Amino acid sequence: MADLDRRFSIGIPEIDAQHAHWIAIIERFRRAAAGHQLDPQGIEAAITALNELVAYTHQHFACEEKLLQAHAYPRLAEHCRAHREIEQQLDSMRSDLLNQRTRRLSLKLNLFATIWLFEHLLGADADYADFLRAKGVVAVA
Ligand SMILES: [Fe+2]
Ligand SMILES: [Fe+2]
Repeated sequence: MADLDRRFSIGIPEIDAQHAHWIAIIERFRRAAAGHQLDPQGIEAAITALNELVAYTHQHFACEEKLLQAHAYPRLAEHCRAHREIEQQLDSMRSDLLNQRTRRLSLKLNLFATIWLFEHLLGADADYADFLRAKGVVAVA
């Protein structure tokens, strides 16, 4: 399991571990996608990596939403909406890859990484982390 960059730590070890794992999967996908235009195998590898990213994203979001619901986080609906938007972005990337409409894909990947890492992790996730810390929550229920 990769270590999590301190900037992203929310102080709940299970969630920090999930974020570290997720960032590692995002990086793996970006590396695979960088070679996607080379040949059919490159596209295949990018699709496999993206499928892994989609599956883990759903798993992580479900865990986070359950945790926030259990602690009556007041901005839960807003947080869920942000998750659904990220899932939609992933779906649209996936259909671009499957249809091999790849010209703008690298731009989208960078945009996606920026939105996720810097807005969601440092913004929305940091916000619920403050809330949970104030309540003394240190573990996933
Ligand atoms: Fe989140
Ligand atoms: Fe998260």
